[in-house]
Amino acid sequence: MDGNGRWAKKRLLPRIAGHKQGVETVREAVKACSELGVRYLTLFAFSSENWRRPEEEVSFLMGLFIAALEREIDKLDRNDIRLRLVGRRDRFSPQIVSLIEAAEARTAGNTGLTLTIAADYGGRWDILQATQAMLIARPELLASGYGEDDLAPYLAMAYAPEPDLFIRTGGEARVSNFLLWQLAYTELYFTDLFWPDFDRAALEAAIASYCQRERRFGRTSEQLSSPC
Ligand code: IPE
Ligand code: MG
Repeated sequence: MDGNGRWAKKRLLPRIAGHKQGVETVREAVKACSELGVRYLTLFAFSSENWRRPEEEVSFLMGLFIAALEREIDKLDRNDIRLRLVGRRDRFSPQIVSLIEAAEARTAGNTGLTLTIAADYGGRWDILQATQAMLIARPELLASGYGEDDLAPYLAMAYAPEPDLFIRTGGEARVSNFLLWQLAYTELYFTDLFWPDFDRAALEAAIASYCQRERRFGRTSEQLSSPC
């Protein structure tokens, strides 16, 4: 979700106004995905590198995060949405950590959309933490060697299939340390729209573009069926 700051700047508003509007877009995107039958929606809300932003902006984002967790949890639960957080938790305040844990516990049995918020997340961090966790749990692998299937269960999003579609708003054409391992075969979609302008029609256009793609996974065209 990129482009909140530029959306605000274009309107001569402070950056934080863009973040506030961005939360509205998140709410709409979750609703739309839920209605469209998307099984997993993963939002990159705050990267490991975003701590480098000015302190006032970071604390505003943390405040928004707390407010959204408090305000939205009833609705998420009512709509059968399961909420999960991936990323480091040790740099968040105890208040945020306990809100996250409560929200995850409360929605754990829900079977509709799984909404994952990546916060203090980095793809490289994920691969490293998974490797470490795997070797602690199975030290014999150090001598025998290991493969992709050994590592996969220790990745932060082991509960979800690898993403079909990656969408980046805001005009940059890079992955910026998002789900590096899991994106190996994901269809990438970039749009110049700023995140607050990424409405339902824009989401549907991204999905329509995905449906046009041919996903070969190394095979030939003749071996395939359509992705949608
Ligand atoms: C993305 O919008 C939101 C977060 C990282 C929380 P930006 O804040 O990166 O917006 P731009 O890139 O400055 O426009
Ligand atoms: Mg940005």
